[in-house]
Amino acid sequence: MSSPALHRILELHRLLREHAHRYYVLDDPTIADGEYDRLFAELLDLEARHPEYIRPDSPSQRVGAPPLEKFAQVDHRIPMLSLENGFSAEDLLAFEERLARFLNRTTPVSYVTEPKLDGLAVEILYKDGLMIQASTRGDGITGEEISAQIRTIQAIPLRLRKAVEGILEVRGEVFMDGEGFLRLNEEQTRAGRPPFANPRNAAAGSLRQLDPAITASRPLKFYTYGVSDPAATGCATQFELLGHLRELGLPVNDLVRRCANIQEVLTSFSDLQAQRLSLGYEIDGMVVKVDAFDLQDRLGAKARAPRWALAWKFPATQATTKLLDVEFQVGRTGAITPVAILSPVSVGGVIVSRATLHNQDEFRRKGLRLGDTVLVQRAGDVIPEVVKPITEARNGRETPIVMPERCPVCAHPLDRPDGEAVTRCFNPLCQAQRTRALAHFTSKAGLDIEGLGKKFMEQLFDLGIIKDLVDIFALDREKLARLEGWGEKSAANVLAAVEAKKHPALGRFLAALGIRFVGEVTASLLEDHFGTLARIVSATREELLEVDGIGEQAAASIVEYFSDPATLDMLARLQRLGVEPAAKGSPAKDLPLFGLTFLFTGTLKTLSRDEAKMLVKGHGGQIAQTVSSKLTHLVAGEKAGSKLKKAAELGKTIISEETFLRMLHP
Ligand code: IVH
Repeated sequence: MSSPALHRILELHRLLREHAHRYYVLDDPTIADGEYDRLFAELLDLEARHPEYIRPDSPSQRVGAPPLEKFAQVDHRIPMLSLENGFSAEDLLAFEERLARFLNRTTPVSYVTEPKLDGLAVEILYKDGLMIQASTRGDGITGEEISAQIRTIQAIPLRLRKAVEGILEVRGEVFMDGEGFLRLNEEQTRAGRPPFANPRNAAAGSLRQLDPAITASRPLKFYTYGVSDPAATGCATQFELLGHLRELGLPVNDLVRRCANIQEVLTSFSDLQAQRLSLGYEIDGMVVKVDAFDLQDRLGAKARAPRWALAWKFPATQATTKLLDVEFQVGRTGAITPVAILSPVSVGGVIVSRATLHNQDEFRRKGLRLGDTVLVQRAGDVIPEVVKPITEARNGRETPIVMPERCPVCAHPLDRPDGEAVTRCFNPLCQAQRTRALAHFTSKAGLDIEGLGKKFMEQLFDLGIIKDLVDIFALDREKLARLEGWGEKSAANVLAAVEAKKHPALGRFLAALGIRFVGEVTASLLEDHFGTLARIVSATREELLEVDGIGEQAAASIVEYFSDPATLDMLARLQRLGVEPAAKGSPAKDLPLFGLTFLFTGTLKTLSRDEAKMLVKGHGGQIAQTVSSKLTHLVAGEKAGSKLKKAAELGKTIISEETFLRMLHP
């Protein structure tokens, strides 16, 4: 370190980092703002004269990154799970009971309680103590890269106060406090822009800005609540981990409490509730976590959420309004959902004009009538719902809500299977279901095909251009370009976007198909376990149940979906168009047909040729075009002719279709 300029630059880094930490994290500054600004100006000046000494963790590097064209996708190395919700002390006690049963233990479990911040979950990667990447939670599996945006948040250190060797994936919540939110909304209004509905939206809107300069101008804050892989930190408990993160310079909420037993958790909740309004930022509940990591490990997770944590939500915000009408929506799976159409009302700062009624039992049980004055509530990020009618406010002109007998879209008679709460339209050709399913396939939750949002998918469906998934990959550019609202450019863009999604990750593809009970998390479990589509297609119920996190319902639904000839036909047609999910996980050599080459001849009993080929490829095998030296197995169906004869002459292994199918499950 020979240069005096470099020496001073590093000294300034240290000073500025220390003071920023005191100011933004500890809330305990020891120098005046003017002094801080002077040190910062000195750093900028030195860096301007010695650009070769600008380091990525310099305090000057928080702002100034150029705007992005779009957000890059980031796969989380370890999925970011969500939390199970509880709404009462009973829910908390039931949570403890589940834990005790699962752990087979009678001694009290220790917990940590943390305020549940209402913001956005993010993951920040540090490598050898240096921040290298940040991403949003996204769907928990894949998020969006927001490194430049995260750098602008002063409370987040660019370099940890103590170097941690290797990778540390810090997780936490970005949020906006009440004061910052009001200030931002004033600015928005002054600039003639619409104000944000609440601090959470403001935080999300500020972070998801392609231009980090905008993010930098927004008053964002951050608290960490954990890491992706606690075991790797050497800490034994959540409480210890939070202390460790604090020592590393990361902001940790100081309302975190360690509770020796469930009674202390109850007290902690009342304490937090009492403080809620004076915190200066919004929280929507308290997160209760089992403190010891060894117990957390034993408890593990279900598909979406760990068993060792509970988000105990505060009671929801409520308001009263008029129930104007009830609409019956047809979902992707044919489920009919009654939706309350309300006279618009502000509920905890958000305007609500529709609320779900879930199903018919719900509005019957609540005794709702059209024209009723109703109590509406919204709990955090949960969809608004109608709680009850205010019967005292009735004037006698209210009318009953009638469940339709026929599908409001296709007029097919509706049915409600025994024991189920949901009435469904079982017409597989119902327009509503098909458009919803198609729109789901191309939506963000599906393959995320840009330009094929809900509106355009409905248009293409209504025009008969897209009748099923396969048609998406066979779109005709000229035809598209001539449609109303399209044009050469958007047609070309959509075709390119479709082309780009021909080899989606397997999990994403599965989630896009919209199989009942197969959401993104389950899809990702299937991907990790089976590796290829073909193995999932041919998986038995028992094989599916072997996957940790897949239960009876999902297994049954998957088997049913993939044994439908229409599904297999669709997959085969997709394959013909070059649509093949990228296999992941198991290397080819672990697959049952690895190293074998197959040829099919004659008429097969259960498989079409395309399906058969797909199964071979998906299980690691190869396909031969002719009876050649490469061929190892000839699968002979009925009326096999010359190929069978030739293979026999060459001494090849000749097998039946049944034997072939058995080879897939060794
Ligand atoms: S722990 C597996 N702790 O709540 C553990 N989450 O509903 C998952 N959140 O996505 C997260 N405060 O955005 C945790 N102290 C806290 C939290 C917290 C807010 C959010 C977070 C998460 C969501 C889950």
